[in-house]
Amino acid sequence: MTRVFSGIKPTGHLTLGNYLGAMRRWATVDQHRAEALFCVVDLHALTVDHDPARVRRVSRQAATLLLATGIDPGLCTVFVQSHVDEHARLSYLLECVATDGEMRRMVQYREKAARERDRGGSVRLSLLTYPVLMAADILAHRTDEVPVGDDQRQHVELARDIAARFNQRYGHTFVVPRATHPEVAARVMNLQEPSSKMGKSDDSGPGIVYLLDEPDVVRRKIGRAVTDSGQDVRHDREERPGVTNLLEILAACTGGDPEALAGTYSSYGALKKDTADAVVEVLRPVRDRHRELCADPSYVEGVLRDGAARARAVARPTVDAAYRAIGLLPPVPEPALNAAR
Ligand code: TYM
Repeated sequence: MTRVFSGIKPTGHLTLGNYLGAMRRWATVDQHRAEALFCVVDLHALTVDHDPARVRRVSRQAATLLLATGIDPGLCTVFVQSHVDEHARLSYLLECVATDGEMRRMVQYREKAARERDRGGSVRLSLLTYPVLMAADILAHRTDEVPVGDDQRQHVELARDIAARFNQRYGHTFVVPRATHPEVAARVMNLQEPSSKMGKSDDSGPGIVYLLDEPDVVRRKIGRAVTDSGQDVRHDREERPGVTNLLEILAACTGGDPEALAGTYSSYGALKKDTADAVVEVLRPVRDRHRELCADPSYVEGVLRDGAARARAVARPTVDAAYRAIGLLPPVPEPALNAAR
């Protein structure tokens, strides 16, 4: 059976971009057709300046939201990355296979490091090595498919390269994974700055729709979205980035085609209103279920406990095999009790 793995990083409140680009497919498609694991990748949240209490809070919220989107622990495995040691254990081995040139070429590293330096801050080494930990997340579980938004394309490509290189040097150990992306809304843009991605850790609140925003907040943000100087409603990323973003969001929420939808609008106002209505309807059940789950934290804890046990059982044999393959001595087993007597 196909194995699917994907993750979400608790660096901020989850956004409409996370939902349309990744989480919605996990719940509606992937968990039903594959052996799926979904992970709150909390170690990745430590690569930038962070508040420990906030990381804990946002991690719990992300796990609860995963379940609120319809991810069913009866069908798949939901867990927190730091509860399964195999991820960090494998990451070091993969650092011995990846090169520093590969790390420095990663677009997300370059952008985030530049932003950090502009602020006068220092760049954590873990920000550079982050894609190796991500490769470990994927490869530890012998993943076939990684359903992600467009921004993760380069990272999954790196995981493929590392897997292939390891297999070639040390013998076949890992499955070489491939990324899958949604047909529309693979890159939801910031409503105020349609040339940049809608990212959860950005500062620009008015341009970001959060999954837990109240309906009137969603309507206000979409109503104030930056549109383009022309008047016609066209699907054109270069010339009409703001309108194209709204068309993509509307299409993703209603199941339509963004180019066909463009022909049905003659004003930006009507497009904004319909997009806001569609987003509010898509998020309503998620918010409702999130509220119910928050009333029962022990249920979420139980899901994460069972999920970690299952994920450990999946990952351990592969990570152990990688330790052997790369040349590390197996640990000497404890003598059997009878033999010791
Ligand atoms: P993260 O937490 O930034 O995002 C989680 C998922 O949401 C997608 N996404 C978007 N899709 C469309 N439009 C957007 N504006 C948008 N913003 C985010 C992301 O593509 C992603 O699929 N490095 C990963 C986390 C990770 C991971 C992994 C993913 C760590 N290990 C292993 C897959 C497999 C990240 O930062 O995602």
